Amino acid sequence: MKKKDVTPYPALFPNPVSLVTCGPLEHPNIITIAWAATACREPPMVSIAVTPSRHSYNLILESGDFVVNIPFARDVFKVDLCGNLSGETVDKFAQCGYTPEPSLRVTSPRIGECPVSIECYLEQTVHLGTHDLFIGHVANVAIDESLLLNGKPDLSRMDTLAYAQGTYYLLGEAVGTHGFSVKEKEEEPL
Ligand SMILES: Cc1cc2nc3c(=O)[nH]c(=O)nc-3n(C[C@H](O)[C@H](O)[C@H](O)COP(=O)(O)O)c2cc1C
Repeated sequence: MKKKDVTPYPALFPNPVSLVTCGPLEHPNIITIAWAATACREPPMVSIAVTPSRHSYNLILESGDFVVNIPFARDVFKVDLCGNLSGETVDKFAQCGYTPEPSLRVTSPRIGECPVSIECYLEQTVHLGTHDLFIGHVANVAIDESLLLNGKPDLSRMDTLAYAQGTYYLLGEAVGTHGFSVKEKEEEPL
């Protein structure tokens, strides 16, 4: 393999695509976020990278919380819409036909039609540059009961999006499970 060195950029892919909700229940907003990540298991933390000029940026700072909602892949049109219109001028809940529903632990509402909603308190803001990192302490996770398998969403039945280099993809097939590489091999039948 002959690799070419290119100008440094955050070349991680694929990313999950999430719809982050913020603002009060009466005037909620949605921002599409591809730069969301798991940050810590205990205490549970996730991070989102948000550009300061976004309408959502100040809403998150004002309330001190946000919700990371995972949409169904079939909602990709709405996902793209929420990432191209600003809540400053558009009611994205109304535009998408989404229902703002009260969260259990934070003031920002959840999206009723998204199968997973991760409610976060804003734990820390790290100022970086074009984007600031909001680190969220996960206060509650709400999952569509019909998709639950051992307390987690059953990804084989959940229609999930991935995002890479400007393109939306469907999550592909499972090709292994954690630890399978070091599990003892079963005896080959003679
Ligand atoms: C697929 C996709 C991913 C995006 N990811 C991010 C992101 O991680 N961080 C960010 O600040 N903006 C991101 N954006 C852009 C914002 O979603 C967009 O600017 C949005 O209109 C801001 O809405 P607001 O002004 O209501 O906050 C993304 C847009 C799309 C379409």
